[in-house]
Amino acid sequence: MLNPAVDRMNAKPFKIFPPMPHQHWNTTLYDRQHQFVWQYGESLIEWLAPQPGEHILDLGCGTGHLTAKLAEKNVIVSGIDADPAMIAVAQQTYPNISFAIADARQFELPAPVDAIFSNAALHWIPEADAVIASVYRALKPGGRFVAEFGGKGNIHAMMTVLFRTLKQLGYPDCDRWNPWYFPSVAEYATCLEQAGFEVTQASLFDRPTPLQDGDAGLRNWFRMFANGILSNIPADQQAQAIEMTEAQLKPVLYKDSGWTADYRRLRVTAKKV
Ligand code: BEZ
Repeated sequence: MLNPAVDRMNAKPFKIFPPMPHQHWNTTLYDRQHQFVWQYGESLIEWLAPQPGEHILDLGCGTGHLTAKLAEKNVIVSGIDADPAMIAVAQQTYPNISFAIADARQFELPAPVDAIFSNAALHWIPEADAVIASVYRALKPGGRFVAEFGGKGNIHAMMTVLFRTLKQLGYPDCDRWNPWYFPSVAEYATCLEQAGFEVTQASLFDRPTPLQDGDAGLRNWFRMFANGILSNIPADQQAQAIEMTEAQLKPVLYKDSGWTADYRRLRVTAKKV
């Protein structure tokens, strides 16, 4: 079993971080309406090229579906995630895989691993240097770090309109509620190199992502992923903010009875040298 980092809070050399900003995860909605989060990540397994018998960590594993895909490659895989609800579902769904609650900024493993894999998690953690330092420590020499997450320009239209709307509704300082980190290739590669990694591949690309549930797709996305922002305002204004945002985004992101999120992905592989 993994040792959750929380058990080792006082071990050096970790800086102690405050808890992650508030974001409530509805795991049922996450699995039912947003499967694309892990389904798109499946192709990242090719970048990882897992070899039978390797020890691999899935960092920010969510409900564990990609962790289970990795397990099919005959590797010894475990998953960590900061959200207890996500880990509870992962443990229940895949009882043969080891999962633990841990903070990506300050986790520690019982033994170093061959590779660390991460899909659609790191855009939730602005403290990239801390994550990268933890990843570096947890890898064997020569170990690989393979990650995909939102990159520079991700959800640009969605974010711009949402924050503009919140300002119109009387929240001029709402930018400070933004929980997301979308770096460029240069920015993230620099962080990796400064930590001692060699960056072996990196790419930033558009991935327009169709949302499920027709007309309700964008609304559901905001309720699922932006609740840490919206929960700062009263419920009636949340509904108003979403309606106003939808109206402004409709000409840009709605076509043929469905919404498409303006995702951009950053993919990197790096080697611990
Ligand atoms: C993303 O996968 O790009 C993403 C998901 C939730 C919030 C922000 C970005």
